[in-house]
Amino acid sequence: MNSLIQKYNIPGPRYTSYPTVPYWDNETFSKEKWIDTFKRSFIESNSSEGISLYIHLPFCESLCTFCACHKHITKRHEMENPYIETVLKEWQLYVDLVDETPIIKEIHLGGGTPTFFSEKQLKRLIDGIFINAEKHPDHEFSFEGHPNNTTKEHLQTLYNLGFTRVSFGVQDYNPKVQEAIHRVQPFENVEKVHNWAKEIGYTSISHDLVFGLPFQTKENVIYTINKTKELEPDRISFYSYAHVPWVKGVGQRGFNEDDLPKNEEKRELYEIGKELFAEMGYVEIGMDHFALPTDSLYKATKEKTLHRNFMGYTANKTQLMVGLGMSSISDSWYGFAQNVKTVKEYERIVNEGEIPVFRGHILSEEDLIIRKHILNIMCHFSTSWEEEQLQIKNVEAHIGKLEEMIDDGLVSIKGKKLTVPEKARPYVRNICMAFDKKLHEKQPETKLFSMTI
Ligand SMILES: C[S@@+](CC[C@H](N)C(=O)[O-])C[C@H]1O[C@@H](n2cnc3c(N)ncnc32)[C@H](O)[C@@H]1O
Ligand code: SF4
Repeated sequence: MNSLIQKYNIPGPRYTSYPTVPYWDNETFSKEKWIDTFKRSFIESNSSEGISLYIHLPFCESLCTFCACHKHITKRHEMENPYIETVLKEWQLYVDLVDETPIIKEIHLGGGTPTFFSEKQLKRLIDGIFINAEKHPDHEFSFEGHPNNTTKEHLQTLYNLGFTRVSFGVQDYNPKVQEAIHRVQPFENVEKVHNWAKEIGYTSISHDLVFGLPFQTKENVIYTINKTKELEPDRISFYSYAHVPWVKGVGQRGFNEDDLPKNEEKRELYEIGKELFAEMGYVEIGMDHFALPTDSLYKATKEKTLHRNFMGYTANKTQLMVGLGMSSISDSWYGFAQNVKTVKEYERIVNEGEIPVFRGHILSEEDLIIRKHILNIMCHFSTSWEEEQLQIKNVEAHIGKLEEMIDDGLVSIKGKKLTVPEKARPYVRNICMAFDKKLHEKQPETKLFSMTI
């Protein structure tokens, strides 16, 4: 297995979308085309499955130096009010485009740090959204809570507004790792917020752990997982550290490349985690998630309804996801669009009455087919092009790219069906790359993606 890791550990997309963001055709994209696909998708899906909202709340009081998210570091809480007002204005711009009242199935508050905002501001945000919307009967609302600043009032207020899922950023419990990533966060802080969430009635509590962080050893991972065991979250995200210091605004510093576990050493951290999670009764979901069999993510895997979008894996698939807030990405299934990436520009454009998207991609028929296959591989570890509407143009060329992986036992193709065996799960991104037509047409000239393993 070790030589396979060296062979296949190459830069590659995480496939939260197809085409991946660097391959969007921004030249032929326009705001008008985006709005057309938004309206089409809204009409097709609103009254049946409902729609999703992703709301990006970008502020953080201090910078964690491993973080690859879009954030705005500030201690100025007076920024909360104008930001919330702008998000509500942006929502109104979308509401004005449609005749029916939006029915919201899923809301996710992501960041940055949603709990940077006071509970009063968060209530104003959600109440404001529902002035012009209805809740879907099966709605699922979730948010990301920072254990160092989530209060009982945050948890209670959001629960009263219909939130039942929360994910807490844990990363690693070891002081040396925490110092290196500039995020000192003792176990007691996580324990406190976790227990509050349980007491209040949250039905899905998730912890984010990361492997491959600076100075992280096998012992560190075992220690972190054993501490996690004490709290028994419903889900665990076990992310591979994405080292992307070349991305503008990321701010990954405070450690050297040499301080990072790599290749086999990094993979071993994952294997240890996987083994311990299995012993604790968690089931592996997709690429980097583990869930107890009582959690909806596990049920979605069993029922083959698991979906993947810009937030990662979700049990709730909706065709339309509207991203509000600075840097958010929207997905109408037929098109993607991303909002401008600074708070200042975002507030200026929305306050001028414009939807603040600055780039995107309208999917062709061929893109839609490839997208479906990549989703199948990422979510279900298999796909099939038997059905007429899933035929892949020039399929031999794609399969040809898998020859070595087939020889290495990492993927099997029988007739028109592809299956990824259990042991080859770490290589799932490599398998998807074989179907990524845009990547074949133009190899990146600069560093774009983190390593696949
Ligand atoms: C927006 S952040 C979390 C919310 C909140 N700000 C917090 O820190 O608790 C979402 C999660 O993304 C993960 N993450 C951030 N940067 C990462 C990176 N470079 N590689 C892998 N995972 C990362 C972390 O596990 C983090 O908890
Ligand atoms: S990990 Fe969370 S708190 Fe830290 S910088 Fe990233 S978004 Fe902000």
